[in-house]
This record gives sequence, C-alpha cells and structure tokens, in this order.
Amino acid sequence: MNDLDQLVAQAQSEFAKAPTPAELENAKARFLGKAGRVTELLKALSALPPEEKKARGALINAAKQQVEAALTARRHALAEAELDQQLKAEALDVTLPGRQRGLGGLHPVSRTMERIEEIFASMGFDVADGPEIETDWMSFTALNNPENHPARSMQDTFYVDMKDAEGRWLNLRPHTSPMQVRYARAHAKKYAGHDPMPEIRVIAPGRTYRVDSDATHSPMFHQCEGLWLGENVSFKDLKVVFADFFRQFFETDDLELRFRPSFFPFTEPSAEVDIQFGHGPLKGRWLEVSGSGQVHPNVVRNFGLDPERYIGFAFGMGPDRLTMLRYGVNDLRLFFEGDLRFLNQFK
Ligand code: PHE
Repeated sequence: MNDLDQLVAQAQSEFAKAPTPAELENAKARFLGKAGRVTELLKALSALPPEEKKARGALINAAKQQVEAALTARRHALAEAELDQQLKAEALDVTLPGRQRGLGGLHPVSRTMERIEEIFASMGFDVADGPEIETDWMSFTALNNPENHPARSMQDTFYVDMKDAEGRWLNLRPHTSPMQVRYARAHAKKYAGHDPMPEIRVIAPGRTYRVDSDATHSPMFHQCEGLWLGENVSFKDLKVVFADFFRQFFETDDLELRFRPSFFPFTEPSAEVDIQFGHGPLKGRWLEVSGSGQVHPNVVRNFGLDPERYIGFAFGMGPDRLTMLRYGVNDLRLFFEGDLRFLNQFK
C-alpha cells in the first residue's frame, strides 16, 4: 500500500469513527483543512521537479477525491442517523386508544330543576324566567311588604347601591316571588279584553340571593316560585298539586304532607309545607320543603287584577333542599364548590 492509499484508508476510518457531525468536521480539518494532510501534500508538490510534479499531482488529486467522497458519505450517514433517532423519539403508536374527552353531565340541581319543570308542565303550568337583579318594588312593595315594615327583615337581602332608570332601588332578589308579579301583570295586560281572563298557572325557577352561609344556607341558592290564579282556585287545589308533585318527584306514594300555619306578607293564610317519608333514612322526620299560601288581595291588586274576582295560591320551594333529599347530600355547599369528585357521581 503506498502512502496515498494509506492516507485514504486512514481518512475513511477516522470519518467512520466520528460519532457526531461536529467531530466529523474536526476529522475533515485534519485531512482537507488549511494545515490538513492532503493540503500539505499538495503544497509539497512545488519542491518536485516539473516532470514528477504532473504525475504526483494527479495521484494526490485522485486521493483527495476519495477522501472527499468518504466525507460526503459519512455526512449523509450521520444526518440520516440523526433523523432516524428523532423519528424514533417522536414515534406515535397510532394503534393506542385515543385520549377521550370526558362527557360532561348536568349539575344535580339542574337535574332537579328539569324534573320540577317537567312535572309542573305535565300539570299545565307554564315555565317563566326573570331577572336576578330586581327593583325594590318587585321584591317587596308589590308583594304587600311596605317600606320600613319589619317583615322585610325576614330576608337578609343583598341591596345594591344603585337605582334603575325610574329611580327605584335595586337588590339581588331574595326570593323568586317577584316573578309572581311580573308574570301576572304581563298576563293581565295580555288578556285585558278577555272575560274571564284565562287562569294563570306558572312556575318560575331560578337563582336567589341572601346574606346567609352555612351547611344548609348558601348566599346564592335556588327557588322555584309557583302561582295558580283564577276565579275558583283554592287551598284544596294547592294540596292536590303539592301531593302530586312530591310523589312524582320522589317517585313514591309512601309520603305524607303537612301544612303548618305560617306568615308571609304576600299570602293570607300562609303555610309551610312539610313532607315525611314512610321509609328510608329520613323515615318519620318532617322536612320543610316549601312556603305557600293564598295570594293576598293587595298582591292581586298589584297584579292589576280584581281581588274580589281572582283568587289563588302561590308557593316557593327550595330545589337545593329537594336535591339534597333526593340524593342524600348532607352539605349544601358541595353543590357550589365545583369539586369534580362530587359532581361526577351524578353523571
Ligand atoms: N317567597 C317566600 C320565601 O322566600 C316563599 C313563598 C312563596 C311563600 C310564595 C308563599 C308564597 O320564603
């Protein structure tokens, strides 16, 4: 093997051993760089006599081309190896099952609201929706709750330091009862020329607010108002509606109702409604589920209707409470904390 063959063999072996592109470039410098071995050989040509120069020059150039070919081959090999490795590192196993996006579910209180709406709709009740920021007049005055009357303090209302366009003070509604007024007034207007006016039969579920917070009270909670008004609607109808409703809601006939005398400014007489199960963990305990009563004549007047002619009942029940009873939840705050471990149980 002559010196040039040896040089080529050495270059090939050093290139092959270079593990990275950077090290390959270092090896290249040792052969093809300014002070590289091939370059040195070419420089040495000038010392040769002219007749040897040509032959030797051709041989060195041939060797140089082989070194360059080895370099290019190794460069490609390293680039390919790098790509291979990158592909391996980023490999996706397309046969693995995909990551599923969890299906959401309805909040337990929303489920209760839907149940309430369905059951009352089946009894011919309309479902209405109204504002959560109310005027003082709607929340209290129209409901026979005069300004400065002590009964206003039955509810720890969130007052807002703001008036509406007509200069009426605003509050976060402490109950859904203003919806009785809104709905009945709209109804009375709509059927102004009708004699008699078609009966009002409506429920109004929604959010309500009071300054109150413990295991059974939340500053934001839910109520469902109900109103049935006509020429001949009595407490007896209220009893039938409630008995039907609670038996359907709890899916049992083994349930008793009790009307306990109470006071609300907007109903007279007024009653708290209690239920009692004849079975299960709550057996034998009276549970308060709703306020109710016969709509007060002053309120009927504020509806824009004649209290000598139209009579009926109203109620306000607590969907949060009903949800707790139905699912056996013991702390109301669980509904509003957004903890998925709790909520997932209702999906
Ligand atoms: N609004 C009353 C409350 O929040 C409930 C109620 C509604 C009572 C309708 C009677 C009639 O406690």
